[in-house]
Amino acid sequence: MKVNFNLKQAGDSVTGRIIGTGSYVPEQIVTNENLAALVDTSDEWIVTRTGIHERRIALEEGTSRMAAEAARRALKNAGVEADELELILMATSSPDYCFPNGACEVQAAIGAKNAVAYDISAACSGFEFALSTVQAFLKAGVYRTALIIGADCLSKLTDWSDRGTCVLFGDGAGAAVIRAEETGIIHSVMGSDGAKGQVLSCMSRSEGNFLNGKKPELGYIFMDGQEVFKFAVKKVPECIRQVLEESGTDINEVKYFVLHQANYRICESVAKRLGQPIEKVPMNIASYGNTSGATVPILLDELNRQGKLNRGDKLVLAGFGGGLTWGAALIEW
Ligand code: COA
Repeated sequence: MKVNFNLKQAGDSVTGRIIGTGSYVPEQIVTNENLAALVDTSDEWIVTRTGIHERRIALEEGTSRMAAEAARRALKNAGVEADELELILMATSSPDYCFPNGACEVQAAIGAKNAVAYDISAACSGFEFALSTVQAFLKAGVYRTALIIGADCLSKLTDWSDRGTCVLFGDGAGAAVIRAEETGIIHSVMGSDGAKGQVLSCMSRSEGNFLNGKKPELGYIFMDGQEVFKFAVKKVPECIRQVLEESGTDINEVKYFVLHQANYRICESVAKRLGQPIEKVPMNIASYGNTSGATVPILLDELNRQGKLNRGDKLVLAGFGGGLTWGAALIEW
């Protein structure tokens, strides 16, 4: 039996460090005014309830093409060649195909021939789930160099006649290259509550098609907005406190809270509940809306490229979403 573990790397002193980031958003901008021409809504309503001014919508790019572009940019930023990658995890709830998985498509597109590649499905918490999973692999000494991607194309799952959901989402992808090092991901937590799954859902098939001549169809996003809001403002501060407490870190040591971009009011509420100034909660929701699994890595990439992150900075990344799922990670840059 061949065991592919590199036990020399295993041990408590090894974790994963983000050594490069990249992101991609489609060129097509859809403004709130554009949506007001489609459904009974207004720029004023959308901005005051969500903070969103516009979003990017993929006209030609699928999820994997956006993901592959974000991956290329992350590899370049990290100075890592594609064939050095041993693991590619793609967090998505809107893959182009049921199979092959999106990570395999990225693998082929970027030429990462030495990597094992698969998807993680945890909706808007997917990037944090991928980060935790990679940390476990690196700690165990299984792999040394990994790529994680959050990529979603929710525009294809959106009912463009439902004003309750169509104003919220956008398309995009973000990626990070992670290498086994002694500092980096300090601690991460994940959680799920399947019993509340129906407050935010998207059916993959409307009904069975055994001998009934029907083709499988994708469903649209369904959301109970107020329930999701209540869940987010409670769970996000809770899991951030958990990750800080379990790692013995004072909250005031954290430079930025890089939160899932679903609604600026959720971000404000989280900052308030944590007793932290809003300046420590960067936001880009105004430009992109909620890009699901991509919001955190896109925002992280922007902070990185703007030169706002210095070696040794402590950051908390946190997400929540369908499942229901939630996750937070404390990292040292
Ligand atoms: N434009 C105008 N009016 C709208 C509207 C829109 N796009 N969407 C809903 N409304 C209406 C509702 O029909 C309702 O009208 P009524 O009072 O006549 O019934 C009114 O606005 C208030 O709706 P409500 O749902 O109470 O608004 P809200 O303040 O809760 O804001 C959300 C709605 C969706 C913005 C908010 O609940 C939210 O952000 N929830 C979390 C969603 C989320 O994060 N999802 C992704 C998780 S990963």
